[in-house]
Amino acid sequence: MALVTTKEMFRKAYEGGYAIGAFNINNMEIIQAITEAAAERKTPVVLQVSAGARKYAKPVYLRALANAAVEDTGIDLALHLDHGADFEICKSCIDSGFTSVMIDGSHHPFEENVALTKKVVEYAHDKGVVVEGELGRLAGVEDEVKVKAEDSSYTRPEEVEEFVSRTGVDSLAIAIGTSHGAYKFKPGTEPKLRFDILERIMEILPGFPIVLHGASSVIPELVDEINECGGKLDGALGVPEDMLRHAAKLAVCKINIDSDIRLAMTAGIRRVLKASPEIFDPRGYLSVAREEVKKMVLHKIDCVLGSANSL
Ligand code: G3H
Ligand code: 13P
Ligand code: ZN
Repeated sequence: MALVTTKEMFRKAYEGGYAIGAFNINNMEIIQAITEAAAERKTPVVLQVSAGARKYAKPVYLRALANAAVEDTGIDLALHLDHGADFEICKSCIDSGFTSVMIDGSHHPFEENVALTKKVVEYAHDKGVVVEGELGRLAGVEDEVKVKAEDSSYTRPEEVEEFVSRTGVDSLAIAIGTSHGAYKFKPGTEPKLRFDILERIMEILPGFPIVLHGASSVIPELVDEINECGGKLDGALGVPEDMLRHAAKLAVCKINIDSDIRLAMTAGIRRVLKASPEIFDPRGYLSVAREEVKKMVLHKIDCVLGSANSL
């Protein structure tokens, strides 16, 4: 068994009307939690590595842990570079065993995005690695970069056909109103996603896998729990789960989740330390954190992704 690409998982997800979960990984507990949940539900999953994760944990450790998870669980796992900023980081991940990379040229003008993405695709495909590109720009905090709402932009359906055919990308991340981090919509406003854009893209690119970033639901109970212990997440708001379920039934084959894992982990650790302040063995709270992340991933598979029993 080895890490796999997302090719086959996306093909089946598109046909089956469900989505594959792509969860951000930063340490062993998170990787174990995600992959144990995926194994229990018999679903493939994407483990994705951001720039922040590379800085925190070093790619060499995350790669080894992802390979250990394949050996341990026997399920199909893809190791994916999240928001690759340039050709060099994509090349380094491809050369070192990642099976999928994202080249995020969404902040560049169209022609530059095409040229950069095409260069990565040519290199990646030669080595059997798949590539996710992005058109349109999400708001929010992404890899330590804050994109203001006024600098974000929806994907323009009239650009997608040319982008996909000229670059050769295997999947496309689009902006339809989701955003990174815990503050996705203004408090007091109705969360809205532009399903009309997604549906138009489906007509233009039938059968082509679409990716949704910034898709955490920012579970209110966890936000409250963190705030009660001195957290400062007032006004945090995520994407309603019914909207994500709907997107998964359409062309969205990969749903990216990071913030909900952070919330589950932090709430779990705060809870256990509050109840048992005498704990000084880190395993006492890290095992609780791992259990909470696993519960979160099981919930996503059952209530958002619909990918159970797809292996
Ligand atoms: O898209 C961004 C992810 O949430 C990762 O953020 O670089 O802080 O790990 P990070
Ligand atoms: P969230 O911040 O909504 O979890 O999004 C994560 C993401 O898109 C990673 O690429
Ligand atoms: Zn993202």
